[in-house]
Amino acid sequence: MKRFKTALLCLLVGAGLQVNAQSKKPVYLDDRMSIEQRVESALSLMTLEEKVALCHAQSKFSSHGVPRLGIPEIWMSDGPHGVREEIQWDSWGNAGFTNDSCTAYPALTCLAATFNPSLSLAYGVAIGEEARYRRKDILLGPGVNIYRTPMNGRNFEYMGEDPYLASIMVVPYIKGVQQSGVAACVKHYALNNQEEWRGHINVNLSDRALYEIYLPAFKAAVEEGQVWSIMGSYNQLRGQHCCHNDLLLNKILKTDWKFDGAVVTDWGGAHDTKQAALNGLDIEMGSYTNGLSSKATFGYEDYFLARPFLDMLKKGEAPVSVVDDKARRVLRLIFRTAMTPNRPYGRFVCADHSETARKVAEEGIVLLKNDKQFFPAPVGKYQRIVVVGENATRSVTEGGGSSTLKVKYEVSPLQGLIAKYGKDHVVYAQGYASGPSLYDREEPSKLNTDSLFKAAVETAKNADVVYFVGGLNKNHFQDAEGGDRKTYNLPFEQDKLIEAILKVNKNVAVILISGNAVAMPWEKAVPAIVQSWYLGSEGGNAIANVLSGAVNPSGKLPFSFPKKLEDNAAHSFGRLSYPGDSINQYYKEDILVGYRWFDTKKIAPQFAFGYGLSYTSFEYGKIATDKPAYKADETIKISFTLKNTGKVDGAEAVQVYASQPKASVMRPAKELKAFQKVFLKAGETQTVSLEVKVKDMAFYNEKTMSWTVEPGEFVLRNAASAADVKSSVSIQIK
Ligand code: GLC
Repeated sequence: MKRFKTALLCLLVGAGLQVNAQSKKPVYLDDRMSIEQRVESALSLMTLEEKVALCHAQSKFSSHGVPRLGIPEIWMSDGPHGVREEIQWDSWGNAGFTNDSCTAYPALTCLAATFNPSLSLAYGVAIGEEARYRRKDILLGPGVNIYRTPMNGRNFEYMGEDPYLASIMVVPYIKGVQQSGVAACVKHYALNNQEEWRGHINVNLSDRALYEIYLPAFKAAVEEGQVWSIMGSYNQLRGQHCCHNDLLLNKILKTDWKFDGAVVTDWGGAHDTKQAALNGLDIEMGSYTNGLSSKATFGYEDYFLARPFLDMLKKGEAPVSVVDDKARRVLRLIFRTAMTPNRPYGRFVCADHSETARKVAEEGIVLLKNDKQFFPAPVGKYQRIVVVGENATRSVTEGGGSSTLKVKYEVSPLQGLIAKYGKDHVVYAQGYASGPSLYDREEPSKLNTDSLFKAAVETAKNADVVYFVGGLNKNHFQDAEGGDRKTYNLPFEQDKLIEAILKVNKNVAVILISGNAVAMPWEKAVPAIVQSWYLGSEGGNAIANVLSGAVNPSGKLPFSFPKKLEDNAAHSFGRLSYPGDSINQYYKEDILVGYRWFDTKKIAPQFAFGYGLSYTSFEYGKIATDKPAYKADETIKISFTLKNTGKVDGAEAVQVYASQPKASVMRPAKELKAFQKVFLKAGETQTVSLEVKVKDMAFYNEKTMSWTVEPGEFVLRNAASAADVKSSVSIQIK
């Protein structure tokens, strides 16, 4: 052994490796050295070719390491709510592994709807362990693009319309994932707020909208979450593709926010070598595809940051410092993941991962309407429950694009309801069909729908209650990547079916499974409405637990439900606002996104941001602050009592909104600046304490290009939702 070590030492010294005297190991291999020391040591040993190789893919989901130095390659995997099945080396096809069926967690709209950061941590830990166990170094999530339009096919993957909610909920998820030595990859940076023309649409918007609405969640991911990687988006911002955009990457991300991780393209998001070299891109993936199509004729050496980049460096058209910065960031990512000492081993598909999935689902389900105590429906309350709707049995974990999953199991709503109520009390009628293919037709063939329709109405006639389980699904033009919705209404004639059922039975609860708002022409006619998200493997159990009262719902909407599409801000300024003219798009609503628009324009939404009912009730005390006036660098301490005035324990996501009545610039009527999920036993009262930093009430000043808090009056309101303010208090900012 001694001779071997001596030989290795000579070899390493011969290769000019810096050898650490005591450990006789090159510094970059020495776990006791700092990451920065290891980075510099490795970089000093690498050739130009090896540095360039770090900057681009070697396969669909992996990028180079440095084989000669024993530095491992980087393996990446989707997605934000479960670890995707193994994909083939060089195509989008699955690799046919038999060890990669994962736990599916709820989609991130559901996580946001919990308004519970501690659940976000548990979620990140669980999914991070699964990514680690599957030997992935980067998990390609979470997504935090803002819900600007209900037509966006990928809203289900994101955390809603409010930058503050998304900023708070994204951080623990990232920390949880990275605990397993797996890099989170917050995406899609930035302004990927629709799927229509996603590959090139050039977004134009004001600096205020950019900084106040679309960047905060990414800034929090970097500054609070210390995220190790970030994914550039497909679209353009002000004429430059976001995967190599000087303003977004060099200026805001790497200079202002001091991001020290690696920028990864979306798959096919790079388009130009010079820009990729000079505008802050670090790892180029999936070039010549759009993330959905198959590989083009080009090979990996043809990538923009492959041979063309090497040629550019050799000709001196870019300084070596450019590739050194990229290589440092990629090496840092490798030393934080694949080469980190004491890296945990992860776990895959285990009871507590399922429990986490179920808890997020249960806490994210939103009770929107519940007349005459329709719910809870404990076992025995209704003897004959007729379940209608394809979403009661349809898998919602597969499809939807890159977040599609091959799951170990998925409890459907019907399975969950039968397990809860017993098969003698549950009768199922499919009611409608959404067509077999991913690219389903809007209007399935008349034959099967007529028979399904009639059978459902017939079955509903003598039901005690009808649970209509409908909504959208992961098919194209629905809640799916690569395309936007074609209509704001429920598809497949669900509205007609609900109306027909109501004619024969008034006791209809509509349970919507979707990641987006939909029109609800039947809203007044039905006694109960539940917004249930794409809930993952435990979905059916979570739905059954909430409907039966085993769990008291506490979810609140992370985005507004407009009554009609035209009420939505992005749809109030013609085609150039949404979807754009296929080249350019203008965010004409500016900072008035979501409830900011409904409040300021005094348009009543169908259901408001932050809205959700409980099986109990809560009474809010008057909001108070610890002082009447504050300086700009202080923190406002807010308190008010909250009482559970009902008969069952429950949880309430209380919200605090701030406004500046007399600002020198246009400001929304109010903006969410604090929230907290409060658990109260029946009859219990708690004093809720929240904090708002004065600096967080600033607006982005386009003149000074910095954040400004103007002196004067500010109003703080405590609320149960954006449309349900309980009380207010005025303070002075000096
Ligand atoms: C897709 C998606 C992105 C995903 C990537 C890899 O096109 O936009 O979210 O992580 O490509 O599948």
